[in-house]
Parts: sequence; C-alpha cells; structure tokens
Amino acid sequence: SKGGFDCFMAKEIHEQPEGIKNTLERRLDESGKIVLDSIKMKKEDLEKINKIYIVACGTAYHAGLLGKKALEAFLNVPVITDIASEFRYNDNFVDENSLVILVSQSGETADTLAVLRDSKAKGARILAVTNVVGSSIAREADDVFYTWAGPEIAVASTKAYTTQIVSLYMIALNFALEKGSIKEDYYMYMIEKMKTLPEGVQSILDNQDKIKEIAQKIVDKEHAFFLGRGIDYALAMEGSLKLKEVSYIHAEAFAAGELKHGTIALIEEGTPVISIATQEKLFEKMVSNMQEVTARGAYVVAIAQEHNKGVEKVADDVIYIPNSDDMLSPVMAVVPMQLLSYYVSTLRGLDVDKPRNLAKSVTVE
Ligand code: M6R
Repeated sequence: SKGGFDCFMAKEIHEQPEGIKNTLERRLDESGKIVLDSIKMKKEDLEKINKIYIVACGTAYHAGLLGKKALEAFLNVPVITDIASEFRYNDNFVDENSLVILVSQSGETADTLAVLRDSKAKGARILAVTNVVGSSIAREADDVFYTWAGPEIAVASTKAYTTQIVSLYMIALNFALEKGSIKEDYYMYMIEKMKTLPEGVQSILDNQDKIKEIAQKIVDKEHAFFLGRGIDYALAMEGSLKLKEVSYIHAEAFAAGELKHGTIALIEEGTPVISIATQEKLFEKMVSNMQEVTARGAYVVAIAQEHNKGVEKVADDVIYIPNSDDMLSPVMAVVPMQLLSYYVSTLRGLDVDKPRNLAKSVTVE
C-alpha cells in the first residue's frame, strides 16, 4: 500500500530516513563499529587486491560514482566506476587480483549480472550491494552487502540510491580501517556523522514548500540542466536522470567546469539550471559558474549547505541542506531533486510510478 501517499515514489522518498537508519544502525556493534555481516573478505583477501571496480546501471551507477570517491579517499587507491553495458564489452583488465563491486537494487539487471559472471570467470572477487535478498546477483556473488531500504516499487529509484551510498561508504570505511589507511578516530567520526543523516534527510522532507514553488516554475520548460563539480557532479547526473525519467523534461548534467567548452551555448533566457554547490572546497568555483549562467539569463536554483548564504547573490532560488561533511552531503542533497522531479511529474499529470517506456527491472539487454 501507498501508506497515505499518492504514489510509491513519494512514499519511498519519505522512507529514506528509516532506510538509512536501518542500513547503518542495525549493523553497529556495542563498540559502535560497523559489522559487515555477510562480507567474508579477510585482511589477506584485501591485501591481494590491486584493482577495484564498481559496475552498475542507471541510478545504481550514480551511487557507484560516489562509492568510488569514498574508496579512493579512505583506501588511497584508484577505483574505476563504469556502466555495466559498456564495461562488459570493453577491455576491462579484470583479473584474479581484482575486486568487482556490483551495485543493483533489484539484483536482476541483465548487464550487471553479465559483468558479474564474466568477472567471476576471470577469477575476480565479487561483492554485490543489492536490496533484494536471494536475487540472482546476491546468489552468484562471493560477498553480499544488503541495503535495507525495504521494497522499492516505483520505477524511479530513490531510497535504494541513498542506502547504496551509505552502504558503499560503510564498506569503504571498514576496508580502510582493516587496511590501516585511515585512523580509528576518523572512522568513528564518520560513523557519528553518518548517524545524523536520517535527521538531516527528515528536515528536508519537513520543508517542501520551496521545492513545490520551484516545481511550478519549471513545469512548462522543455530543458533543464544540472551543474556540479566533483561529488556534486555525480549527484547532478542523478538529479538529471530523475527529472527526465518521471517528468519527460529533457535534462542533462554538466561538470560545471566544462560549461565554457561548449554547453554554455545552450543557456538562454529562463533555462532552469540546478546548481549543486555542497562541496566546501569547490564552493567558490560553483559560485562563479552560477554567475556565468545567470549572466546569460538562466533561472538558477542552487542547492547548498545552510551556512553558505553567500549563494543567494548568484541564485534565483536556494534550497538549503543541513551543514555536513562534504562526502556525506549527497545523501541529503539528492532529496530536494527527488522531490522536485516528483512534483513536476504530478503537476504535469503524469503517472509518477510508471513512466512511459520503462520497467522497474531491466532483465533484458
Ligand atoms: O535494479 P538496478 O539497481 O540494477 O537497476 C538499475 C537501473 O535500471 C535503475 O537504477 C534505473 O536507472 C532507475 N529507473 C533509475 O531511477
């Protein structure tokens, strides 16, 4: 049942605080450390690994891009994240010293499963991050980490994404502690910070008026752009996928620094540009990019941390998220974009849960 909501997407957006809490807190032991229950990888297995891949499709791929940021930051090793339908046909160099992490809500996506089988045949260690117990990907992987998001019914993925990010961060933290590449203090600090995420997400869910207003302003637009840098660029891709999928507005994500290399030509009077500026070290750069598009007449909606009020000078509308660690901000910053997509879809009178031409689980190639 939709539990009082008009569609599953809305219900699932609102279930995120609980999903994140379940995924994280139910895995903490008495000392406050994460127990990676079904991951049997030992220190010696980790030491053997010299290449890490994260492979997935759609929203799960976008979560994988953030998993890469966390693994690289914590483990201090390069990580390749790729789309399953590309990865499987490329020279990917997977071998017995590789760790291949597959991310999939359903655990049944054909291309992701094909990458699993191919990588396994090449002797790689396979770790699945999935939401469905007993799914094909869960069954065939060496190790499984379940996102405890609860069933996701809407075609547009929401709570699976936020719990996938949290899961990948938890895995990265534990591997890094095991390997000795992060200190225990930092590990505990990150867990404490992650524990505040459900509350942070809830505060965004409790303040939707601004997002509704913004939805009214973009409902009749044909195009919308999403800008970000670093972590926020990965998030921009997810925001753009969400909007196009449920509202049918043509949406694209750009790395803000690439604007000048061609894409700024698309900006005209009133073009909506959702600019994500949650990264402290890139904040001023994003402010300049917002100025550049404002000067060309764009309607700029910024997503920023509460304390960065300076953003109001360069944006027409601002959606604030609670102040946070840069690495953790995407779990909160994605929520306004999910809500925006939902509102625009509803205002357009579309079937939010079942967008045209799409299936929940893509079991054919
Ligand atoms: O079940 P999976 O996570 O493997 O599905 C991957 C994609 O098909 C999925 O995320 C898709 O992009 C969603 N419709 C996005 O909202």
